[in-house]
Amino acid sequence: MTSPGTTEPSPRDQLDRLWRRGCDFLGTRYAILGGAMTWVSERNLVAAISNGGGFGVIASGSMGPDRLAEEIDATRALTDRPFGVNLITLHPQLLDLVAVCAGRGVSHVVLAGGLPPAPAVAAIKAAGAKAICFAPALSIARKLVRSGADAIVIEGMEAGGHIGPVATSVLAQEILPHLREVPVFVAGGIGRGEAMVGYLEMGAAGCQLGSRFVCATESIAHPAFKKAFLRANARDAVPSIQLDVRFPVIPVRALANAATRRFAEKQREVIDRFDAGELNQKEAQLEIEHFWAGALRRAVIDGDVETGSVMAGQSVGMVVREEPTAAILEELVEQAAAALAMRCDHARAATEGRSSNAASSNDGVGAAR
Ligand SMILES: Cc1cc2nc3c(=O)[nH]c(=O)nc-3n(C[C@H](O)[C@H](O)[C@H](O)COP(=O)(O)O)c2cc1C
Repeated sequence: MTSPGTTEPSPRDQLDRLWRRGCDFLGTRYAILGGAMTWVSERNLVAAISNGGGFGVIASGSMGPDRLAEEIDATRALTDRPFGVNLITLHPQLLDLVAVCAGRGVSHVVLAGGLPPAPAVAAIKAAGAKAICFAPALSIARKLVRSGADAIVIEGMEAGGHIGPVATSVLAQEILPHLREVPVFVAGGIGRGEAMVGYLEMGAAGCQLGSRFVCATESIAHPAFKKAFLRANARDAVPSIQLDVRFPVIPVRALANAATRRFAEKQREVIDRFDAGELNQKEAQLEIEHFWAGALRRAVIDGDVETGSVMAGQSVGMVVREEPTAAILEELVEQAAAALAMRCDHARAATEGRSSNAASSNDGVGAAR
């Protein structure tokens, strides 16, 4: 289709061209992945994203094989569209979980939470599924592709949940122009379609969004969790703080609350006890890590948004209402199409400006004669 009165493709067609590689890879209408969110990305939200034209991904979190099998079956009962499963590489039963995905014909498996072990990638591919891996730098992305990754997600520190140190915009510049072998999806801090277009034009195959889907009508997140999202601004979503280099803390971006403040006090107490010889290194590290055990479930499922972990990306400020998943996807696509239409308008105005300038300078030449 062309825009009325022109031979240019319509903005929607331009968008389809821009993300065709991502759509083909995912088997979807839109190259938008619903980033897996533990406790949030279960059957209802995953199916709603896939039914809305995006690509839903089940967050398996700490699920065991039987529980994952049940979730995959339940999701399939709600959608006949493609969806994926996100597995945490540190899970002690990772290969069993891959086997569950293989046995149930899951088409795409996302390996998150660290560099994926080669046997897991091999098992996914042997089952005929696609392996999607996270890359925090270009060199690692290249290594993952050599080891068989079928697609890469680059996720910047604006994202919700566990984060790396580099911003999405910087990772995109570092990786997108140089990695053409496989589709690359960009995640972290994306809340509107205009931003998606920016990354697509830089070479991304598609985008992954998490926070924008938390308040979807179909999301089972507790009303108090959704309310915390609706109230929050970008600056409320902060990374967890590490007090001492001897006790590393993997940074997690979440809404500041009583728990994030208490975590700093907890580290101080544990470090003091370690310095006094009351705890050894391992005990102290475990005690710090244990602080967050069960905290995400407490917030998402029980609605305890003060002592729980309200993981959220900086894009939380763009979550302004509870609405159906399909409406969120349509709004993103409309914003993307509007951005492309505006680029065409600017290009046309620039061309027209050039030809009228040329005409007036010709007039000037004529007048001088
Ligand atoms: C509540 C929450 C839980 C998350 N859990 C996971 C997870 O289990 N596995 C994972 O790979 N990413 C997880 N993420 C990251 C998302 O999949 C996604 O990449 C991220 O939210 C993108 O950034 P955005 O929130 O700015 O859109 C989580 C994010 C949030 C907000």
